[in-house]
Formats: sequence, structure tokens, C-alpha cells
Amino acid sequence: MSHPSHHEGSAGSPAQRVFDPASRAFALILGIAAVVAGIGMGLWNPLLRRAASVEGAEIDTLFSIALGVGTAIFVVVQGALIYSIIRFSRQPGDESDGPPIRGNTTLEVLWTAIPAGIVVMLAIYSYQVLATIERPQPDALEVEVKGLQYAWEFYYPASGVTSAELHIPINRQVHLKLRSEEVIHSFWVPAFRIKKDVMPDRVTETYITATRVGTYPIVCAELCGAGHAAMRANLVVESDAEFRSWLAAAVAAKDRRAEETGAQADALAQGREIYTRSGCAACHALSDANAVGQVGPSLDGIGTRAASTVPGQSAEEYIRASIIKPADFAVSGYPLIMPGDYSIRLSEAEINALVEYLLAQE
Ligand code: CUA
Repeated sequence: MSHPSHHEGSAGSPAQRVFDPASRAFALILGIAAVVAGIGMGLWNPLLRRAASVEGAEIDTLFSIALGVGTAIFVVVQGALIYSIIRFSRQPGDESDGPPIRGNTTLEVLWTAIPAGIVVMLAIYSYQVLATIERPQPDALEVEVKGLQYAWEFYYPASGVTSAELHIPINRQVHLKLRSEEVIHSFWVPAFRIKKDVMPDRVTETYITATRVGTYPIVCAELCGAGHAAMRANLVVESDAEFRSWLAAAVAAKDRRAEETGAQADALAQGREIYTRSGCAACHALSDANAVGQVGPSLDGIGTRAASTVPGQSAEEYIRASIIKPADFAVSGYPLIMPGDYSIRLSEAEINALVEYLLAQE
């Protein structure tokens, strides 16, 4: 391809005919190709799977438009570049100088104004998407998310339940309040297109509304230490009924645990009471019972020591035997004056409570 104006125009002449009919035709083809490629890429992105949340769908539309505009610009710029390389490259034997172009105000205004207009439109649209997906709904379910090295913990304040999995009902907005225990983490649900920093010094918030039942990965997206890659959890989207039954089961399990803890505390209190009232405290020091007796050995830490005191005897066996037959366990340096009739003075249940109590002294 040759370009006649290269040879005919004298240096400095403004009469360069760059837009000849061939260039015009090419510009038209390039424009059509850019529009088709941009729309095609925006509508059909093979790398993006369908989002599973209301917010994800909004974000995907924004992303597709940005990708479509980017694709169109890419086709225009690369097309013009390739066309120019072929069309305007130096021909064999052509030793003339190129035309002395000193700028083109129209062109410069256009290539500044068009991209600026595109960026402003995308910025306004992005803001609208953000405002839409962060608009709180009155019936939103509130969940507190805690990031810790290296796990996620989910707390449902309305029911007092803590879970290692994030269970949420479908088609209902979930208001997440995120907080870190120590370092910065990032809460990311790829299928929902939601990513939010989790900070140690403040609470960050985000909203998710699931549109498809299923289990989706929650990933930590901020390098937070050696276990960062393993900091994952499951997000389980359920029907409203399934979610309610999961929550009810979690509440029941929590109540059962609280009862057990309460029962354990009761047993220890009972043991302490027996320790004080039955005379143990008079001779054996024990800080948990505020006992300071000096006659016999101190029992601080006895629960730990008991396991290794007599070979072949478990901690429980040793403590029980020491109470019932103290003469068998004389400790050097202390007079052997402990009464040997505790199996009569105390009931079986009282001895059990006392043994439990002493075992708990660590
Ligand atoms: Cu937490 Cu990475």
C-alpha cells in the first residue's frame, strides 16, 4: 500500500489528505467491530459464572458494561495501531521525511472529552450500584462476623447463637457487621461478589441477599499470617424453613451446653462447701476455698499433681483413697493426725463432690 500524499506534499504543507476513502471505510469497519465486540463481551463473558446474590447481579451488570466499554476501546486502539503499521510504514526506496504534524486541537479535545465522559458515566453508575446494594431493608437478618487467625466465627445476636458456618435464608437481606480479633482480614464471598475488609479497631458493614440455595466458599482475601490460605468457611443458603430449623437446633444445643456448664459450676460450688464445712480447710491450705491451714500439706494444684503421685493410680483414685484412708498416704514432714473415718462422716455423694472439686484444682 502506498500513500500518495507522502510523495506529493512538500514539507510543512497543511494539505495532507489523511482521510481518503480507504481510511474512511476502515474507520467505519473499525467502529462497527468495536461496537459488536463491546456488546458481545458485555453480554457474554465466558469467565464469569452467574452470581448467587442480588448484590452480585448488580455488580455483574456494572462489570459487564465496564468490560464492554473496555473491549470497544481496546478494539479501536489496537485496530488503529495495526492499520497504521500496515498503511503508513516506510515503502522500499522511500527516503523522504514524514509530514511535520504539529498537533490537532479538534482531535485532542475529542480524545480527552470522550474518555472523560465515559469515566464520569461509569463513576455515576458505580455509585448508584453501591447505594442500591447497601440500602438496608427493614426485615434484614443481622449477623456479626468475627475474623481471627485463622477462622471465621458467626454470631446471631437475635438468638445468641455462635456458628463456624454462615447459614442464611434465601431472598432475605443479611446485614453483616464485621470485626477482627487481631490483624486485618478480608471477608470474601466470590459467588456473591462481596468483599469487605475486617478490621481490628472498627466495625465494617456489608449486605448480602442470596438468590440461590447452595453452599458457597467464604475466603479470607487479605494476607493475615501463616494460616491465611486455610482461613475459609462455608456459606450455606437455605430455604426459610430450613434456616429456621437450623437456628432452632443451634439454640437448643447452646441451651444444653449452658445447662451443662451450670451443672458443672454447681458441682464445684458444692465441693467447695463440703471442703470448708467438713474440716478439710482447717488443716489444708487451698486458695480456691480461701483455706490457709498449715497442719497438713497444701492442696493447691492437687488435681494436676495427683495423677503422678502413686504409680498405677489415677488422680481420682489417689484423691479418693487419701480422703478415706489417709494413713496410707502419710506425707513426710506432716503429723499423721487426719481422721480416718471420712467414709462414715460423709455420704458417698459428698465424697464424690469433694473428689471432683479437688480434681479441678489445677
Ligand atoms: Cu485472614 Cu487471611
